[in-house]
Amino acid sequence: MRIVALQGSPRAESNTQAVLDMVLDGARQAGAQTETVRLIELEDFRGCMECFGCQGVADKPDCQVEDDMLGVLGKLMKADVIVWATPVFCWSPAWPLKMAMDRFFCMFKFQEDGQIRSLVEGRRMAAVVTAGGKETDGADLVQEICRRLVEFSRCKWEGTFVAAEVKDLESIRKDAALAGRARAFGKKLAS
Ligand SMILES: Cc1cc2nc3c(=O)[nH]c(=O)nc-3n(C[C@H](O)[C@H](O)[C@H](O)COP(=O)(O)O)c2cc1C
Repeated sequence: MRIVALQGSPRAESNTQAVLDMVLDGARQAGAQTETVRLIELEDFRGCMECFGCQGVADKPDCQVEDDMLGVLGKLMKADVIVWATPVFCWSPAWPLKMAMDRFFCMFKFQEDGQIRSLVEGRRMAAVVTAGGKETDGADLVQEICRRLVEFSRCKWEGTFVAAEVKDLESIRKDAALAGRARAFGKKLAS
């Protein structure tokens, strides 16, 4: 069982990373292998250029933007579970995760018969979201964006772990109830 998480916070001391660590800790305790890609740490990371070059090949991502995201797409192809992790930025995923979602578009192949083939069909996907506000202040919309992406990918939606009204790293690390909920979510992902 291999879980690959894409973490989209732009800051080094990240609330989202702290919560994701708790989730993945639970998954590892249940026997999963986990890997986190901190998108902001990729040296060369660019957005989708809408060239549609990926559509020339049916059985591999073949994104034409030659940067470090190509290696990440390769990791996602081999994952059993993909986790999309992000803070809420203005009712949306933070920009590094949004960029990764756009680059994920090369996993979809738009066929001549009108059908869309997904290279990751049947995988499992989940989201981890942190928010300064209440769940209804944007985390709900981010969950819906992730859920739609999962549906379009023809993957199995494992749900979202939401940490709403979070303050700082210190208070997150002290929150035993949050850690317990997060580890239980991770355990579910590993099952
Ligand atoms: C530019 C910006 C926009 C934000 N927008 C929202 C928002 O719409 N709703 C919300 O609940 N929190 C919002 N927040 C708060 C962050 O989601 C919250 O602090 C998050 O835990 C930060 O995670 P990080 O440390 O992993 O980056 C925003 C923060 C920033 C910096």
